[in-house]
Amino acid sequence: MAKLVVYPQNQPLFGKVSVPSDKSIGHRALLFASLCEGTSIIKRFSYGEDNVSTANAMRAMGVVIDDVDEAGSPRTGQSPERPNSPNNNEGELRVHGKGLFGLKAPTAKLDCGNSGTTMRLLAGILAGQHFASTLIGDASLSRRPMMRVVGPLRSRGAIIDGNPHPTKAHDLLPPLRIGARKEGSFLSGLDYDSPVASAQVKSAILLSGLYSRDATLFTEPELSRDHTERMMYALGVPLRSIGSYLVLDPANWNGVMPAFDIEIPGDPSAAAFLVAAAQIVPGSRVAVSGVGTNPTRTGLFSVLQSMGGGIEIAPQGDQAGEPVGEITSWSSELRSTGGICGDIIARAIDEIPIACALAARASGTTTVRDAAELRVKESDRIATMVSVLRAFGVACKETRDGLDIEGTSAKLLPATIDSRGDHRIAMTAVVLALLGQGPSTITDCGCIATSFPGFVATLRALGARIDVS
Ligand code: S3P
Repeated sequence: MAKLVVYPQNQPLFGKVSVPSDKSIGHRALLFASLCEGTSIIKRFSYGEDNVSTANAMRAMGVVIDDVDEAGSPRTGQSPERPNSPNNNEGELRVHGKGLFGLKAPTAKLDCGNSGTTMRLLAGILAGQHFASTLIGDASLSRRPMMRVVGPLRSRGAIIDGNPHPTKAHDLLPPLRIGARKEGSFLSGLDYDSPVASAQVKSAILLSGLYSRDATLFTEPELSRDHTERMMYALGVPLRSIGSYLVLDPANWNGVMPAFDIEIPGDPSAAAFLVAAAQIVPGSRVAVSGVGTNPTRTGLFSVLQSMGGGIEIAPQGDQAGEPVGEITSWSSELRSTGGICGDIIARAIDEIPIACALAARASGTTTVRDAAELRVKESDRIATMVSVLRAFGVACKETRDGLDIEGTSAKLLPATIDSRGDHRIAMTAVVLALLGQGPSTITDCGCIATSFPGFVATLRALGARIDVS
């Protein structure tokens, strides 16, 4: 497991960089391309481990995915894993779609690795298949709650089960075992009011809706990221939305999605770490180009603005129905915001750990609330952030659904942090360590490769001193 030693950053961070392409959009592009008719081209596909898990699962169900080399020649059958490739480990894929009903029974369990998105979205697709399948994951994913997708999928007739949850009687854990549907049978219609704002739940339900002849109605408490909806609109799926209320009515639809070409924008969730690092290291100025700026993903940037942070987003047009921009971030005197809560949580769900790092540098107390979902991410991110902040000497208090953080302008204590295998915790700790009085050590950092394989190289390119062992 990689260990990082991060040195105090006495020089500004400076430069213009790019980040890996959006992991959420990458998963969806692969899934939809597999279910389309014909060959789709996915440019700037990120070989982060989570996206690779989705690619491998689709391959295991007979989808041919060519990894195209720099000269444009297909390398059929090659695993899309090129850890040392340039361009933030990105490449071009050609996905030979099978149509909605062309997937084949996998001969082994489908391994979703660390990726909750792979498991939950695939559950929606597999619920409608005429073959049985089993979805497994790594130790972290095997602790994550699955009733949120199993429940609504069952209520539309899916045959799906998991393992009992050791402490929550009504929940289930992976593996997910999904039964074969009878030939010629379809899932029933569904009217589902989700108790949780979750794009994974929403997407699983919408994908399962492709295997029903009746309408799928879905609503959630706040609008979560809407990449699935945007892709469905682009592919002619009969979906309509008003706010977070969705209706997929296939009554007059022929069930054919055409192949498409897509270039995936940069991941705002990866950019967030660089944007934050530039805020808190005095004198810094960092630009990140080609980043997705879909409003359902930019909550952190809104939070930063309300803290008085220097940030500018220059629009760079649209890619694949998603807005893209260049984000410039410069170091600023931050002040605590009124609170990070309400609908901003869904728009910043993956960025709350790095928002906590910003709060550690903002004058006053920052409160985070309505964020209980953080407890069921790759780690319990409320508990983990509390221990990370305390290790760096930042005062904070844990609450049921968030935390209170006392900002400080003092140098932070050098710390030894165990990432607990959570990529966003590891990267947040690296950013905080830039403010240390001395070198800090972050252990168990192999997980960073799930979403941002080039993270250390990118920070070094901006001027950070980090040793890897
Ligand atoms: C994701 C949705 C979010 C997010 C995750 C990616 C997606 O999860 O935290 O990293 O791609 O749909 P939830 O839907 O569980 O909030």
